[in-house]
Amino acid sequence: MKSYEQLLNANKEWAANKLLINPRYFKSLAKVQTPEFLWIGCSDSRVPANEITGTEPGEIFVHRNIANLVVHTDVNLLSVLEYAVVHLKVKHVIVCGHYGCGGVKAAMSNGDFNQVLNMWLRVIKDVYRNNREALDAITDLDRRADKLVELNVKEQVEKLCKTSIIQNAWKDRQGPDIHGWAYGLKDGIINPIIEIKAGSYVDPLYKYDFAE
Ligand code: CO
Repeated sequence: MKSYEQLLNANKEWAANKLLINPRYFKSLAKVQTPEFLWIGCSDSRVPANEITGTEPGEIFVHRNIANLVVHTDVNLLSVLEYAVVHLKVKHVIVCGHYGCGGVKAAMSNGDFNQVLNMWLRVIKDVYRNNREALDAITDLDRRADKLVELNVKEQVEKLCKTSIIQNAWKDRQGPDIHGWAYGLKDGIINPIIEIKAGSYVDPLYKYDFAE
């Protein structure tokens, strides 16, 4: 059997099992989705949002990219954010990085990963530059990378607060709260790094006048 055929077979088994437990499982899910969470995570195959949080289909709206970046010109990310915040009215936005992130390690190196990846990883190099002293002080390279994972999560969370999408929602409905987490590949545990409640302080430079 081909590897992708195994996926299709496993899918049939999974669907049958769901129906065994609840014959209306797919009927009720197909009607509407009302997730409470937007997840912005790394594309890394070892960090599946639903599995590591014990959630089911319908509970988390998901966007994933390399190293869980919030790039303010990324139409894909912004579309997902706008849909989740404005239409689904999620209560929480979670940026979840992970220790041992290949994207973060690559950004710490001087490797040339060709034009597109270089451009993407450059965003993480900027996080490094802004925290150079603290990071350079950590001599162990794995520990330094893990610290950069945490600082990167923090930076992406702060960038979310700088969007008009989030500032508008904070004004209109006092939500969502923004969370930054880091997942451990080695122990499966999520480490909360930062939490920003709706309506929190935003650097005046990035604050839109409607939010005054
Ligand atoms: Co990663």
